[in-house]
Amino acid sequence: MQDQISEQKKAAIAAISNAAALDALDEVRVATLGKKGSISGLMKGLGGMTPEQRTEFGPLLNSLKNEVADAISQRKAVLEMSALEDRLVSERLDISLPVSEHSGGYIHPISQVMDEIAEIFAALDFDVAEGPDLEDDFYNFTALNIPLEHPARQMHDTFYLKPDENGERKVLRTHTSPVQIRTMINQKPPIRIIAPGRTYRSDSDATHTPMFHQVEGLVIDKSTHLGHLKGCLEAFIKAFFEVDEVKMRFRPSYFPFTEPSMEVDIGCSWEGGTVKIGTGNDWLEILGCGMVNPKVLEACDLDPTVYQGFAFGCGIDRLAMLKYGMNDLRSFFDADGRWIKHYGFSAFDVPTIARGLSR
Ligand code: PHE
Repeated sequence: MQDQISEQKKAAIAAISNAAALDALDEVRVATLGKKGSISGLMKGLGGMTPEQRTEFGPLLNSLKNEVADAISQRKAVLEMSALEDRLVSERLDISLPVSEHSGGYIHPISQVMDEIAEIFAALDFDVAEGPDLEDDFYNFTALNIPLEHPARQMHDTFYLKPDENGERKVLRTHTSPVQIRTMINQKPPIRIIAPGRTYRSDSDATHTPMFHQVEGLVIDKSTHLGHLKGCLEAFIKAFFEVDEVKMRFRPSYFPFTEPSMEVDIGCSWEGGTVKIGTGNDWLEILGCGMVNPKVLEACDLDPTVYQGFAFGCGIDRLAMLKYGMNDLRSFFDADGRWIKHYGFSAFDVPTIARGLSR
């Protein structure tokens, strides 16, 4: 009997470790511990034994049964783990498949040009700042030295919201200049930011849309002067239009938030019907700029005897039209698939200075 037991044990353990898959292991279980299994058969034999034999073999058979059951469950855990691994490998979903160039989506030229501008100014060490489209009157006007009843308010055809219970009216920002104020209030100089974004004026014709885009620039420290403003704008224009030389003309102008204020024209030629930037005898007005008015610094709690700097503001839509030869502003907003297919950019055309900004 003892021999039979150790024989059974050897055979069962060997069969268990040879079982290569879960179903084979289950067959071993049925053949040993199942109702008609070999070990169950031996257990049944206990009934016909003498009490002495039963005390001798009972515990031996029990431990045989337990050892085989343990070996099966250990093997089962190993086989289950490798079955899971097989499944993980075979059922893997590759989510890293590249987007097809021809998937049909395009980057709008406005978005592309905003990225180009951010890239150029990043190389000049400017951060990108943002502000809300829906502004408080304070940020859009008052802090920019445009108090209530100031005639400059009429220059902006402002969209006002209904007044709240305190009589205060929010506005859709008429320019990106309120981001200057938010930045100067929240951040200590030195400040070097651009603020690209949407702007709104109640104006609509061939060259104006009620929503348009501007980019604001602001530099504040203790020593920045007009020469820096000129150098910065020249570097920007050259990089943006990808030309080596550009003629620039600074005309005196007026903005309540800068003093002195200027408008900047760049040299161009219209020969052959298309505009060429950089050379030629024509001029194109391109942006407004100036030294930040001390009153604006004061409104932001900055001491104008300590701090100074420049600001500029520029229409992005016009820059995009000039650079990429699009001649109707309204087509930007038509959502015409053929137009975007022609003028849009691939998601892979990420503008970088090193590669060249445009294709
Ligand atoms: N905010 C002005 C405009 O929208 C542009 C500007 C910005 C001018 C900063 C000077 C300085 O017309």
